[in-house]
Amino acid sequence: MRAVAQAQPNIALVKYWGKQNLADNLPAVGSLSITLDSLWTRMEVEFSSELRNDRLLIGGHQDDEMLARVSGCLDQVVGTDRDRAIIQSETNFPIAAGLASSASAFAALVMAADAACGKSHELLSLARMAGRASGSAARSFYGGFVELRVDGRRIDTVQLLKDDEWPLHVVVAITAETAKPLGSTEAMIRSAESSPFYSSWVERQDEDLGAAREAVGERDFAKLASVAEHNCLKMHSVMWTSRPSIVYWNRATLSCMQTVRELQNSGVPVFFTIDAGPQVKAVCLPAAADQVAAALQETSGVSRVLQSNLGHGARLVASA
Ligand code: PMV
Repeated sequence: MRAVAQAQPNIALVKYWGKQNLADNLPAVGSLSITLDSLWTRMEVEFSSELRNDRLLIGGHQDDEMLARVSGCLDQVVGTDRDRAIIQSETNFPIAAGLASSASAFAALVMAADAACGKSHELLSLARMAGRASGSAARSFYGGFVELRVDGRRIDTVQLLKDDEWPLHVVVAITAETAKPLGSTEAMIRSAESSPFYSSWVERQDEDLGAAREAVGERDFAKLASVAEHNCLKMHSVMWTSRPSIVYWNRATLSCMQTVRELQNSGVPVFFTIDAGPQVKAVCLPAAADQVAAALQETSGVSRVLQSNLGHGARLVASA
């Protein structure tokens, strides 16, 4: 009745932004991501017939804000007539600041809950269940390069390459440690309702997915860099042109983008991507990792950098 699972965040290179259906949390577009290695969330789930309510502890502190979402997710995995649970989460990176902590959290939660209640759903079912709680969480069940496809009213997940089949490196420049001002669900709804660019964003996503899939297949770094930066800036253009506008960036975010441009101009194989937060993720070939990390660390407004190779999908750490 108790299990612990670990999952790593993933970084989308072709982004998920927009929902087709709110009730099922079905994405409006497919996406393509890389799963990280050294950042992680560990979730322990313990069911007990003696508990009257679910209890959630994040980093040792009781958290009632996230509880409803977590309980809803457990209902999906186990059923609504389940025992109540104590859920404990530990994360080794800042949460709710655009580092995809919900992806690793819900992937680990679903995997731990499934093991703790002895259900043993297959991986794609687990990914679909996690995806209903957080769209990007479906991708964290797989390592390396992952594509999420929207197939009618369901999602499908495909691992395009394993982590060691094209070992890229990621440097995350932390420019603010505080929680983001607007959650991604609310921001996506606002974008769909008010950005004049939203329909074209949705219509042209398949082009970007096709180009990124090809780049990954050919291990063509320049091609992947070009489509990933384009797709990222397109998503942020949709956010910026929403009403009221959604701007997750700060001064240091722009400074980091400039640093990446300067590195590119001097021939360094690196590109940036930015999610619903102010942090800049620089993806590079492993040989350039130290140079990219040093340049970002020196960029004005960067408090620290985190580094990661690509890693595996969610996995069980313990169960009893
Ligand atoms: O999974 P959510 O609901 O936190 O949304 C993730 C949205 C982005 O991180 C901006 C893009 C993505 O594909 O991960």
